[in-house]
Amino acid sequence: MHLSARVIMATGISLVLGLASCGGSAQSGKGRQDSGLSGSGLAAPQPGLKDYYKDYFPVGVAVNSRNIKGPEAALILKEYNSVTPENDMKMGPVHPAADQYNFAPVDSIVAFARRHGLKVRGHNLCWHEQTPDWLFKDAGGGEVAKSVLLSRLRDHIRTVVSRYKKDVYCWDVVNEAISDDSTELLRKSPWLKIIGPSFIDSAFWYAHRADPKAELYYNDYNVVFPEKAKRIYTLLKGLKQRGVPITGIGIQAHWSVYQPTEQQLRSTLDLFKSLGLKIQITELDVSVFPWEKNKRALLPKDQIRYQGQVEDRQTAFYKMIFKVFRDYKGVISGVTFWNVSDRDTWLNYYPVEGRKNYPLLFDSALKRKPAYQAVTDFKGAGATAP
Ligand code: G3I
Repeated sequence: MHLSARVIMATGISLVLGLASCGGSAQSGKGRQDSGLSGSGLAAPQPGLKDYYKDYFPVGVAVNSRNIKGPEAALILKEYNSVTPENDMKMGPVHPAADQYNFAPVDSIVAFARRHGLKVRGHNLCWHEQTPDWLFKDAGGGEVAKSVLLSRLRDHIRTVVSRYKKDVYCWDVVNEAISDDSTELLRKSPWLKIIGPSFIDSAFWYAHRADPKAELYYNDYNVVFPEKAKRIYTLLKGLKQRGVPITGIGIQAHWSVYQPTEQQLRSTLDLFKSLGLKIQITELDVSVFPWEKNKRALLPKDQIRYQGQVEDRQTAFYKMIFKVFRDYKGVISGVTFWNVSDRDTWLNYYPVEGRKNYPLLFDSALKRKPAYQAVTDFKGAGATAP
């Protein structure tokens, strides 16, 4: 898209957002900002996150097809320059039957990105969750043979990567292969059981052959815990030594206001930098609750209000992590938030179904939270929208 068209669009977006926030908010606490034009209608449009960080890295957001219309679409275009389909590219949704692909939802996201000049991160090609029912079974319902599963993986990756070659610049090729059990390296997934550890190498090679120019990432959670970081390091070092075409590590960053510490974060970045890998922060959100891995039922005491110390703590946390991200300019090649706003975040359902969480920079009325100011108020921040 031409520059002038983008400026006009940014102006339009501001107006849409202004209207969207007229109704007020249950969360209209201190420091909430509209994302509209500053002052008179003739003033320059305010910059968005992507503009503040234009000298650092693309700033992205995970989206579903429902997010790319109306006020959320306007917010996306104002603030971000990269999108990741949150669910629609995963094997289950995109490849529901052996001979059937469901590309329509992803196509709509990719078309939106292309229309507006946004980058697209592909998520993901090989994972143990959100897999289709047919994948690990043979015709009689038994366990599929290793050779068949490998050819299914190859065909899936080749089909999806080739289709989006012009639009997707990087892929999370293998997702969460490291075990939650610290006594073992790899998770006991059907991939590991049927193919063995080489499924990881194979997935990267299939992706590379389908699009030799694409950046290829290994993506995981809890990377900031030193014990898990060490096992991921072992895996990635092995990939590098075998010449597997890996570009970098995706640090998911499902964090909370209680962790990681600045020191933990810096040590983690140093560790993977030492392998010569690019680093992307791929799924950033900052829960206001301590991290829990397992799903559980809602208890009355679970609900909290986003105000006072909770808000201050999250604001300070966001300020700290973005200062660190800036210090790793040139090493961090992208930062992506996992969802658009507190209105619609997976953390409202996980690990406690129905517990309201507040993990993002925009509140449920799509207004900028004080944490937004904390991450954009720094020396050398891009001062204007393009
Ligand atoms: O699509 C069905 C819908 O048909 C059905 O009516 C509805 C009823 O519950 O479920 C819908 O599927 C849900 C799907 O999201 C789409 O909304 C699944 O139940 C739900 O489990 C699924 O959750 C996703 C989760 O991955 C699956 O493990 C989250 O939205 C998504 O944010 C999350 O993303 C993962 C990353 O891919 C990898 N890293 C961790 C991250 C958070 O878990």
